[in-house]
Amino acid sequence: MSDQAARNLLTYAFGAEVLARIPIPSLRRQFEQAVLAQNCCTLRMTVAHTALKSRPGMVGLDIDSIRADFPILGLTVGGKPLVYLDNAASSQMPQPVIDRLVRYQTTQHANVHRGVHYLSEIASAEYESARGRLQRFVNAREEREVIFTSGTTDAINLVMHGYGRKFIGAGDEIILTLLEHHSNIVPWQMLAEEKGVKIRVVPINDAGELMLDQYEQLFNERTKLVGGCTSRTR
Ligand SMILES: Cc1ncc(COP(=O)(O)O)c(C=O)c1O
Repeated sequence: MSDQAARNLLTYAFGAEVLARIPIPSLRRQFEQAVLAQNCCTLRMTVAHTALKSRPGMVGLDIDSIRADFPILGLTVGGKPLVYLDNAASSQMPQPVIDRLVRYQTTQHANVHRGVHYLSEIASAEYESARGRLQRFVNAREEREVIFTSGTTDAINLVMHGYGRKFIGAGDEIILTLLEHHSNIVPWQMLAEEKGVKIRVVPINDAGELMLDQYEQLFNERTKLVGGCTSRTR
């Protein structure tokens, strides 16, 4: 199988799994159309979907070998193997990433795109090559769609100042969820104050799950942006 065919297969298999988990039919249809519109593969979504359905519960992850990639998970804390869940704040690094950083810091580190000397040219080339690899990994259309930021707060502010200020205005609505981190609240509050945009919030139930039926009610023709970074749904 070619690299491209393998990538397409993975994209569709992943898409099928996500689709199967969306409990709102209209949203599922929209998502399905968006995925199919990519039109990057002759393999039909339904084929991947059927394959996944025939192996319920099978997600194909070898947890032990994934854990083994992260040296920090070898720590024992309080007599038990470390469990780490604060990834949104600081993700742990697998060994290949640590190795690559050491190689970069010991042989390649310099200003990216701001120097004309040997190291700067190497660092710039490696930086751009990472952008290209990421583009292929997420199946983005163009390299320039991949934008590196210092983190989530920086990235969401960039979207607010760039897209938000230009395309969202008075009378428009933004939907957030009650579970958002303030990095995904404050920028939209600033936009709301500046432009007269209304923020609507998807509530949670007693189990801490998003109430997706309420989300359907909030979504309408004035909705310009849905900002939901949480994964806990019914
Ligand atoms: C759940 C969650 N989301 C977002 C952020 C913001 O991330 P960043 O530090 O990359 O701006 C954090 C940071 O602690 C977080 O815990």
